[in-house]
Amino acid sequence: MSEFNTVFLNGQWLPADQAQISVFDRGFLFGDGIYEVLPVYGHHLLRLDEHLSRLSNSLEEVGIRNPYSDNEWRELFCNLLLQNNAENCAIYLQVTRGSSGGRDHSIPTNIEPTVFACVNPLPILPEAVKENGVSAITREDIRWHRCHIKAITLLANVLLKEEGTAEGCNETLLVRDGKISEGASSNVFAVINGTLVTPPKGPELLPGITRDLVLELAEKQQGLSVEQRILSADELNNASEILITSSTRELYPVTNLDGQAVGSGKPGPVWQQLFAAYQAYKAQFQL
Ligand code: PDD
Repeated sequence: MSEFNTVFLNGQWLPADQAQISVFDRGFLFGDGIYEVLPVYGHHLLRLDEHLSRLSNSLEEVGIRNPYSDNEWRELFCNLLLQNNAENCAIYLQVTRGSSGGRDHSIPTNIEPTVFACVNPLPILPEAVKENGVSAITREDIRWHRCHIKAITLLANVLLKEEGTAEGCNETLLVRDGKISEGASSNVFAVINGTLVTPPKGPELLPGITRDLVLELAEKQQGLSVEQRILSADELNNASEILITSSTRELYPVTNLDGQAVGSGKPGPVWQQLFAAYQAYKAQFQL
């Protein structure tokens, strides 16, 4: 069990083991809901406005009413941190379409969203990852074509990720029509002829908040050459470095792809530079 035990459910603050939802909740029955994961450094919610804007877009895309204003969300998150005496953690937030007391594919008209939020520990970057990087495999991207929505319907992601885990890999990188979309739970970057390349935003990938932050640090602060463009699977195979980003893993170097070493087989200079920049960026918020 997590060290953070107080959760928020539909306006109530409860111990996690006392929080209950209806078995007819559409999140439970259909995966009909949206989520967010927000990293917190010290007491600072990293890129809160960007997370709230993505949440609002996801809800709008699937026609779930946003139950709170941005200020109300902000207040809820601050309370959640206070209630759990939490710092350096990740807030998990889920809004489902709610329950109408039965199971029907058709969306009922009068239905109140279910709102759940809790705090999880932020994983600590293992020394072995810094030293050696991680392995990944590639697989066909079998997901739907609305991956820009942060939907809780993650079965395809879970099964794809599991294929990687079964081969001792940290991530599964997804390929659609010969093009890289993203990882099963991360965004992907590759260093091609010295340029940091990442696929452009669109319906095939989640617009990652860490992705945008890394792009900003790379281009504006570190002066690296950066391109958001189609990245082919062939290019990925010949990249000198591959990086993956997410709110919980920050920035990992992928040093082995489909059983072959990436570049030197060790975390490369671009990862080192961006990792240092990311740590420095975070440090301003840490207590
Ligand atoms: N997932 N793409 C997918 C499919 C993801 O699941 C995630 C993160 C990302 C990276 O997005 P961000 O930088 O905003 O975290 C990209 C979260 C962490 C999760 O599902 O737990």
